[in-house]
Amino acid sequence: MASVEIRGVKKSFGAVDVIHGIDVTIADEEFVVLVGPSGCGKSTLLRMVAGLEQITGGQISIGGRIVNNLPPKDRDIAMVFQNYALYPHMTVRDNMAFSLKLRKADNATIESRVKHSASSSCMTGGSSKSVPRWISTTIRRICSLPGSSARRR
Ligand SMILES: Nc1ncnc2c1ncn2[C@@H]1O[C@H](COP(=O)(O)OP(=O)(O)O)[C@@H](O)[C@H]1O
Ligand SMILES: [Mg+2]
Repeated sequence: MASVEIRGVKKSFGAVDVIHGIDVTIADEEFVVLVGPSGCGKSTLLRMVAGLEQITGGQISIGGRIVNNLPPKDRDIAMVFQNYALYPHMTVRDNMAFSLKLRKADNATIESRVKHSASSSCMTGGSSKSVPRWISTTIRRICSLPGSSARRR
């Protein structure tokens, strides 16, 4: 984990100012929730921290390193999306293991992360089945967890 410092961050989409200079300090291992009405800029702020959206002004630091101009892959952080896309031809388990495999994690690590995410979210059995079309958004998010938690230090 790492600290996150957001200093005077602004975001405009064309002529529309969406975030007007926000300051947030998040300590290492601190759990923070952003609350606000729809359209106030929560997702935009998260996307700027992840590097998926350029900031218009200000500064973002992760673990003491300014990341303003770093691409997402070099920020060493993970984002669990509201609606995580799963591969329908793969099993639930293989979906959970997928990003770890891409990062060439060894089998023991993959097995333990997948098991940990499944059991800590009360997902019992069924992970060897293909992804059903009606799978819930909650299960989709759980499937993305092993890959996200792999980014721990
Ligand atoms: N790519 C974009 N282009 C233009 N406007 C955008 C874009 N993304 C978000 N917005 C606008 O920015 C504002 C904040 O959006 P968003 O961060 O998604 O809000 P929240 O997540 O708090 O509901 C909204 O007015 C939205 O319409
Ligand atoms: Mg949002």
